[in-house]
Amino acid sequence: MHMHKYEKIWLTFGIACLFVFLTVIGVSAFAEGKQPPSCLTTIDPEKVDQTPPFNKPGLVKTGDNEYQLNIVVSAFAFTPNQIEIPKGAKVTINVTSKDVIHGFEVAGTNINMMVEPGYINTITKTFNQTGEYTILCNEYCGAGHHMMTGRIKVVE
Ligand code: CUA
Repeated sequence: MHMHKYEKIWLTFGIACLFVFLTVIGVSAFAEGKQPPSCLTTIDPEKVDQTPPFNKPGLVKTGDNEYQLNIVVSAFAFTPNQIEIPKGAKVTINVTSKDVIHGFEVAGTNINMMVEPGYINTITKTFNQTGEYTILCNEYCGAGHHMMTGRIKVVE
């Protein structure tokens, strides 16, 4: 097969570029054992219902004014989706997904996490003001995406 000289040069150049890109991506993605942010804890997404603390989702008192809020996320619901938190409580929120990637955003706060199957995502927040906050899924996850909501009530 006859190949034009320039065609060969560009083909070689193209392949070389591909290798450079793949190397850069590979090194930056896996160097230092990087993982998605705060996704350091893993969980079997098919056994969420049997795995503590998600076998008993909800608010758990862990100390003086300290709580753990464990929420199971699935298509298309947060469990639980109505949560009452005492004002001033320091709450560590743990979320995990049983199926696809969802979002966990509490509107009007800095709480905004990706919820990935296989991982537990965590954020700690002190609720200093009474009021109602809406929980939203902000990752498109299917037909019922827009129905995925919940409510946090911070009470006196
Ligand atoms: Cu869950 Cu969108």
